[in-house]
Amino acid sequence: MPFPLDRPRRMRRTEALRALVRETVLSPDDLMWPLFVVPGHKIRNPVKSMPGVFQLSVDELVAEAQSGWEAGVRSVILFGVPSKKDAVGSGAYDEEGEVARAVRALKKALPGLVVATDVCLCEYTDHGHCGILKPPRAGGPGQDLTVDNDLTLPILAREAVAHARAGADIVAPSDMMDGRVAAIRKGLDEAGFDEVPILSYAAKFAGAFYGPFRDAAESAPVLGPGVPKDRKAYQMDPANGREALREVELDLAEGADMVMVKPAVPYLDIVRLVRDRVNVPVAAYHVSGEYAMIKAAAMAGWIDEERVTLETLLCIRRAGADFILTYAAKDAARLLSGARR
Ligand code: PBG
Repeated sequence: MPFPLDRPRRMRRTEALRALVRETVLSPDDLMWPLFVVPGHKIRNPVKSMPGVFQLSVDELVAEAQSGWEAGVRSVILFGVPSKKDAVGSGAYDEEGEVARAVRALKKALPGLVVATDVCLCEYTDHGHCGILKPPRAGGPGQDLTVDNDLTLPILAREAVAHARAGADIVAPSDMMDGRVAAIRKGLDEAGFDEVPILSYAAKFAGAFYGPFRDAAESAPVLGPGVPKDRKAYQMDPANGREALREVELDLAEGADMVMVKPAVPYLDIVRLVRDRVNVPVAAYHVSGEYAMIKAAAMAGWIDEERVTLETLLCIRRAGADFILTYAAKDAARLLSGARR
């Protein structure tokens, strides 16, 4: 039915008409808010490359989550920034570590809040890699160490169990080791946490968008002799879409309950590919670099921050994400609930 019979503009005439035929809705329920927890008391360190984001001590974190809750944020994901690091990341499974303490405090103050925890070693290792380093099998002098997959798995499982024991509602492994979902599932089940779901960072790409996060989490690889300078030997090549599906399928076979694509906007094609292939919830992580770009342009007065933020999140939903991890969760939730009133 061509023009002049068909005129799509007929359905765009008024806001109520547009709302009536709108295909995708963004709600505060769809947003998970990443928070960084540090040791100490009354600490609220601004992260320079992420305006509006802070490293928070447990007391401040609870206050922040409360203000998020009032704005409509119903889920958070915690990242630990420990004061002590070692070669094997042993702080990751410390039951008195900042993440475990933060989970307990949040569940007490806000029992209805969904508390997820990031399960990874990069914040806890002194070299900043997501697993344990060891010499490569064919290692000669001058060769880089490698992140040893199988030695890392039991530590990740132990970390996930420590988080579950503290009361985490979801554990989210972001390390990209092969077999970690199975190892974590087994660890959780053996410890009696068969009801704790795994949100797997299934398709996590080794790109340049994580820079500001590594400032916030103090988790960048530490340059030194033999230490690999990037994460390309475990995170995915940004060029690969089919491989993302393979990662998703493997994680589901190992017991993942939800899968994530990360970053979000430059990878919306992957979000759509995954959405069309699987029937589990799909998450997308609008990462630190994506957030920082919007903030920077807004601070320069070049874009309208509120409108660009809401449009970006809506488009990630339209691409197929059921929920979105975003540093803008509180601001967006506030805008969304304001818009409804
Ligand atoms: C830890 C982890 C990273 C992010 C989430 N979990 C960083 C990394 O892989 O270096 C990035 C989040 C962001 O950039 O916002 N493995």
